[in-house]
Amino acid sequence: MDITVLGTGGVGRSVAGRLDDLGHHVTMATREPSVTAGRDEHAAWAAAHAGVALAPFAGSVTGADLVVNALGGDIALGVLAEVGPELVGRVLLDLSNPLDHSQGFPPRLFVKDDDSLAEQLQRAHPEALVVKTLNTMNNAVMVDPARLPEGTTVFVSGDDPGAKAAVVALLRELGHSDVIDLGGLETARGPEMFLALWIRTAVALGGSDFNIKVVRGPSLPS
Ligand SMILES: NC(=O)c1ccc[n+]([C@@H]2O[C@H](COP(=O)([O-])OP(=O)(O)OC[C@H]3O[C@@H](n4cnc5c(N)ncnc54)[C@H](OP(=O)(O)O)[C@@H]3O)[C@@H](O)[C@H]2O)c1
Repeated sequence: MDITVLGTGGVGRSVAGRLDDLGHHVTMATREPSVTAGRDEHAAWAAAHAGVALAPFAGSVTGADLVVNALGGDIALGVLAEVGPELVGRVLLDLSNPLDHSQGFPPRLFVKDDDSLAEQLQRAHPEALVVKTLNTMNNAVMVDPARLPEGTTVFVSGDDPGAKAAVVALLRELGHSDVIDLGGLETARGPEMFLALWIRTAVALGGSDFNIKVVRGPSLPS
């Protein structure tokens, strides 16, 4: 697949690198490619992923079969406005979290309860096919769930069945075996609000190399 990853932070690099390793044709989007290419952390990563193109946000999703939003939640709406009309009809896998760090630790959620960041992105781009997933685990686990000693759970939320099927297929390629389809995009509120517990769990464990597993009782289908 042709995949554009919006964002060159730790998550963008992790996702783009793994998709490249899996044989996808990957473009990574950034504000200013020459500035990003000159960063030490990017250069080291790029040396192992020479096939991944670096492009400015505007125009970066032309031809993409799937777009990954790996941007900070607080800047995602602004960047997607820059990406613009080319999002029409495209699957937008949204793994961002609506974190507000302005008041210290722990970060607050800037949208919650009766709305979500995923729904805000969808309202701003009604013809994009937004699917929320992967935001409930760290980026190493996102792209390689088998690093954990047992199978864990990932959630998907989205209004378009075809887009959701495409995302689930990609999740399975990454190695996710237990995918729970929560329903329409409105259900992304739960996984986004899970961040409050995720952050406290990471602090309690002393690290983020973990994930949750939903264990079904005998009365539920496995
Ligand atoms: N860390 C994890 O393991 C983890 C797990 C689950 C979900 N997430 C979510 O994944 C997302 C990405 O996380 P991250 O830590 O990789 O991201 P990040 O480092 O916060 O963001 C990197 C991207 O944001 C762009 N950016 C920053 N400020 C900007 C501005 N003012 N205008 C336009 N673009 C700007 C950067 O552009 P340049 O490329 O131009 O520098 C870069 O591409 C977040 O929403 C996070 O909550 C993270």
